Amino acid sequence: MALTPGSALDMSGLPAALVNRPRCDQAAVWPQLGQHHRQAGAAFDLRQAFAEDERRFDDFSQGAPHVFADLSKNLIDRTGEALLLQLARECRVEAHRDAMFAGEAINTTEGRAVLHTLLRAPREALGGAVNPALGPQLAEVHATLDAMLAYAEAVRADAAITDVVNIGIGGSDLGPKMVVRALLDRVSPGRRVHFVSNVDGHELAAVLRLVKPRSTLFLVASKTFTTTETMANAHAARRWFEAGGGVDVARQFVGLTANVAAAREFGIQTTFGFWDWVGGRYSLWSAIGLPIAIAFGATAFRTLLAGAHAMDEHFRTAPLARNLPVRLALLDVWYRNFHGFTSRNIAPYHSALRYLAMHLQQVEMESNGKRVDLAGQALGFGTAPVLWGEPGANGQHAFFQMLHQGTDVVPVEFIAVREASHELPRQHQLLLANALAQAQALMLGKPDGGGHKHFPGNRPSTFLLLERLDPESLGALIALQEHRVFVSGSLWGLNSFDQWGVELGKVLARDIEPRLASGDVAGLDGSTAGLLRRLLENY
Ligand code: F6P
Repeated sequence: MALTPGSALDMSGLPAALVNRPRCDQAAVWPQLGQHHRQAGAAFDLRQAFAEDERRFDDFSQGAPHVFADLSKNLIDRTGEALLLQLARECRVEAHRDAMFAGEAINTTEGRAVLHTLLRAPREALGGAVNPALGPQLAEVHATLDAMLAYAEAVRADAAITDVVNIGIGGSDLGPKMVVRALLDRVSPGRRVHFVSNVDGHELAAVLRLVKPRSTLFLVASKTFTTTETMANAHAARRWFEAGGGVDVARQFVGLTANVAAAREFGIQTTFGFWDWVGGRYSLWSAIGLPIAIAFGATAFRTLLAGAHAMDEHFRTAPLARNLPVRLALLDVWYRNFHGFTSRNIAPYHSALRYLAMHLQQVEMESNGKRVDLAGQALGFGTAPVLWGEPGANGQHAFFQMLHQGTDVVPVEFIAVREASHELPRQHQLLLANALAQAQALMLGKPDGGGHKHFPGNRPSTFLLLERLDPESLGALIALQEHRVFVSGSLWGLNSFDQWGVELGKVLARDIEPRLASGDVAGLDGSTAGLLRRLLENY
């Protein structure tokens, strides 16, 4: 059922769970939500809500595997939440979710199943959490996982390898890089993991200055093994390797890909594969996670998977009203479509989570940054918000001014970790105090401060709390975010699993590149032609 971008989808032949499933704006409860927003939502005041309801914290907070979530500082009352839950029911989110877990081809524009959850399902889950029909896929997942983890352990035991360089971009970079950086305290000493994503040669050149051909293992990570940036970097790395006396490409270049044939053609003999039902931005759980496994070992990688699986099970089985990904997504829809908020700030109060916002940008904005529904019809409402963020407390001294006193309201998602992994308790206490204080200040404001010193308050935030930043809780946190994006995409009626929007630029770059050598500007628009001439001028 492959489609060209922009063409409308023939809805016949869709998985049953997707047929006649209303989009959010087609649900009967949608106008009621609008009415509730006009009557009670727009003027909702958090301070008053807490004053009137001493159970607010208990009722608007909940546990989920490895994550505690306080949702009480969000601009929502009980009626609003009930209406949003009604929306989820009317849009048959549960049937859509079950179709994903069951392996139905819910990625309709590419005719593919969406089974990243299978990558973290234990073998024993077959027939329970995992649809028995997925037995062959689960067996393949585990065979590959076992082989990849055995290889990771062999690399860890190989004293000749001091450096690992992962070459990949997008999902073949952001997820593994974020996890490796997040768990860095656990990296075995002496084995450095580097990530090169950009085709900007500064990136690869900087890494190559640090490593030696004989002691470096290159992981070429690309689902398609055709991505221009990755291929250019992989070829450049191989030229550098051979020029520096490296001889054994087969030993020191490994492919992580769903296109094993292309990796072989490159000269790579060791490949760890994955499948077309794993989207790039959902692939850190697959062979793409090899740098994580090399950094932290097989047990840590399995624990990461177990944490994610625990969250999968929560998402798959918890009732909607106590289902954390569902509740987060309902707030996302409430904010985007009724309050009109266009962005969300990610504020991890843990510097090791410095790449989390970048990873979540791909997960959310590549998944739900769409303007048409499954049938290819243009939507009359907003979809993915802009995600942005930076670890606290640094953000407080950069953009929090705008969050407190700017003209736009930006819901903030705080992520704090109770136990530090260092021996500086005073620092950790200060950090946690800052996280709590910022959420409090956003909510309470300072109404008595006049003019420039006035803080309006009533600014919403969610507070996610992890016990400690270990593989298990990190796995659960990432899976939580993946599922929340699934639910908002489902309500908006999107296909969250394709990414046609990145194609046009790739095609145009292929046309422009030779022009940088030839100087030919024929047929180009005036601005591109002007810039190209300027680039080729000696000035
Ligand atoms: O740029 C879009 C994209 O297709 C992402 O979805 C993907 O994660 C990235 O490129 C890298 O793709 P690949 O792993 O095939 O090199």
